[in-house]
Amino acid sequence: MKNKILVTGGAGYIGSHTCIALHEAGYDIVVYDNLSNSSCEAINRVSILTGKPIEFIKGDIRDTEMLRQVFSSNYFFGVIHFAGLKSVGESVSKPLLYYNNNISGTINLLEVMAEYDVKNIVFSSSATVYGDPEKLPIDESSPRSCTNPYGQSKLAVEYILEDLAISDDNWNLISLRYFNPVGAHPSGKIGEDPNDIPNNLMPYISQVAVGKLDKLNIFGNDYSTVDGTGVRDFIHVSDLAQGHVAALNHLEQQTSLNKNRSVGFLPINLGTGRGTSVLELVNAFIQVTGQAIPYQFVGRRAGDVASCCASAYKAKVLLGWEAKLSITEMCQDTWNWQSNNPNGYRVKDI
Ligand code: NAD
Ligand code: WQD
Repeated sequence: MKNKILVTGGAGYIGSHTCIALHEAGYDIVVYDNLSNSSCEAINRVSILTGKPIEFIKGDIRDTEMLRQVFSSNYFFGVIHFAGLKSVGESVSKPLLYYNNNISGTINLLEVMAEYDVKNIVFSSSATVYGDPEKLPIDESSPRSCTNPYGQSKLAVEYILEDLAISDDNWNLISLRYFNPVGAHPSGKIGEDPNDIPNNLMPYISQVAVGKLDKLNIFGNDYSTVDGTGVRDFIHVSDLAQGHVAALNHLEQQTSLNKNRSVGFLPINLGTGRGTSVLELVNAFIQVTGQAIPYQFVGRRAGDVASCCASAYKAKVLLGWEAKLSITEMCQDTWNWQSNNPNGYRVKDI
């Protein structure tokens, strides 16, 4: 058995897929999640898929005493920190909630980690920290800026992690900047389960396909892109999950090989390096699944950038990781999950 890892937010979309990848890689994991945007059923299904009960603690990262209990009763190598709120729109109407949950919660977690001398962390950052990129593909040294409280919270945590690295070289902090995660586990048992009408493109498409929504609104067809619609770097959630295993391996290797040299603060993009337009994704989904996706063009969505695409070079060189799965698998696996679970983890619509 390899090291023990605390997975905050492990019941969520990316966390649940990463729990499977961590299990397959031999890690022992403890999931810590307040279930504010997820369900116990995701944990049950991860246990079924891995054939092993998952150790799950319902708790909030802002709850110092609860975290202390968890750290005092386990010996962790490190933490994969997914826990956070992620809706851009909601963050604009509830900035304090986002700053409290995502920034104060992370500070609290880091303080408890320091108390127990656990100084290895992989943080869920986002391509949103690049704002409106000056050049594509975006590499990790590109300037950072954000225009909404969600993005600000990710950027603020990155600055905090950088300052920690400067203050004490026992900290090893990897900030994984995800591009656009989509898809689901190939079993169709776990996937993305938005609470409300989805804000993101792929879950919206799949809910149109399954008949829960009438039609897709495509926000803008006048961008200077291949077909006028926005371009994004969509990445399969299973590839993303493997990226976390690769990041942990890197931390383990560096901390055992270079006892006197810390990893410091290491930002790494997780993307495919390929851009796909909204219309290309819609057409691929129709082709792969045979489902109709009625759509109409509407005006641009405030805050959207025209194009976003990762340089995936650093992840390949430093972590030995690269995305393997194509747009076809992203569509296939999304549809497999959505069609088998039209109401997500809920048995019935509520
Ligand atoms: P998710 O909402 O499915 O998962 C987040 C999990 O964190 C949920 O299970 C939620 O219940 C939990 N959580 C939230 N606040 C908590 C708290 N205070 N204490 C304990 N648990 C808490 O989201 P996801 O898509 O799996 O995203 C995971 C992480 O990756 C988030 O930090 C998100 O901001 C980041 N991220 C997501 C995307 C994306 O498009 N999905 C892109 C870039 C970055
Ligand atoms: C993709 C494209 C839309 C919905 C967001 C967050 C980002 C990160 C990932 C967390 C855009 C278009 C969408 C729809 C559409 N999350 N679209 N109709 O905006 O690139 O990134 O999720 O960190 O922070 O901002 O992803 O899926 O919302 O949009 O036409 O109903 O699809 O305009 O061009 P985005 P998205």
